[in-house]
Amino acid sequence: MTTIKVWDGFIRCFHWLLVISIAVLYFSVEEGMIELHFVAGFFTLALIVTRIVWGVVGSRTAKLSGLIHSPKAVLQGLKKPIDTTGHSAPGSYMVIAFFTLILTQLITGLMSSDGILTDGPLVEYVSSDTVDFANWLHHLNFDILLYAIGLHIAAIVVYKIKGKPLVKAMITGEKASKSNSVQSSVTKSPWLAWAIFAGLLLILAFTWGQEPLQYLFG
Ligand code: HEM
Ligand code: HEM
Repeated sequence: MTTIKVWDGFIRCFHWLLVISIAVLYFSVEEGMIELHFVAGFFTLALIVTRIVWGVVGSRTAKLSGLIHSPKAVLQGLKKPIDTTGHSAPGSYMVIAFFTLILTQLITGLMSSDGILTDGPLVEYVSSDTVDFANWLHHLNFDILLYAIGLHIAAIVVYKIKGKPLVKAMITGEKASKSNSVQSSVTKSPWLAWAIFAGLLLILAFTWGQEPLQYLFG
């Protein structure tokens, strides 16, 4: 039994920061803290855009091109979990679903308005019909996102019961492998991802983020 590094530092931080961000996004609107909602929204935007760029230039297990599998592979993966260094075939479609749902949530949020005081930064560029549609979809899509999260956690529990503990790998980056053959490295140093993330955060902080940040910290 050997251990192999499957998730680089950026993927792991991306995952847990995403979980925290979505919790903050939910509680901030529930508590009427729309400025915090905006700041957390811009943070999530920087996070997901970096993840997508990292999906092109990053580690082998981060690659977006590795997420496409045949329906046959998905069915086989559902019947019997196989040893993979990246996402399994069914897991890959879960990742695609999450990226689509989160991007939809972000884009509609940018065009949403609470109808009283607060407008998303793209509201002034679109028609009022588009704002109404974005508001509607921002509410509906969040419910779908919640179902997807429920399903995701249920799947992780099922994998654990079937003897595949996935959570530890998402924390430490490493997983045990039965194969003793020397694995070529599948992860890259994440410094480029962090540089892109920092750049995006700065751009967002100095543009759309200025007003809500001043409200929160000024
Ligand atoms: C993944 C990111 C996001 C999540 C999970 C999220 C989640 C939510 C939720 C749960 C609501 C309340 C819906 C309801 O009352 O049923 C909401 C409302 C809202 N969100 Fe977001 N949001 C996100 C991103 C954004 C962004 C980026 C913006 C704008 C910068 C934004 C602007 C708004 C606005 C203006 C409302 C309406 C508040 C109201 O009706 O009082 N959201 N969001
Ligand atoms: C807001 C809630 C959550 C969201 C939106 C979410 C989203 C995601 C995404 C997008 C990935 C793919 C990572 C990537 O390739 O970039 C992923 C993987 C993963 N998530 Fe979550 N997650 C959530 C909560 C959780 C929780 C609570 C756990 C632990 C119980 C968890 C455990 C995992 C694990 C173990 C993987 C790797 C799966 C694999 O080996 O293929 N997630 N999640």
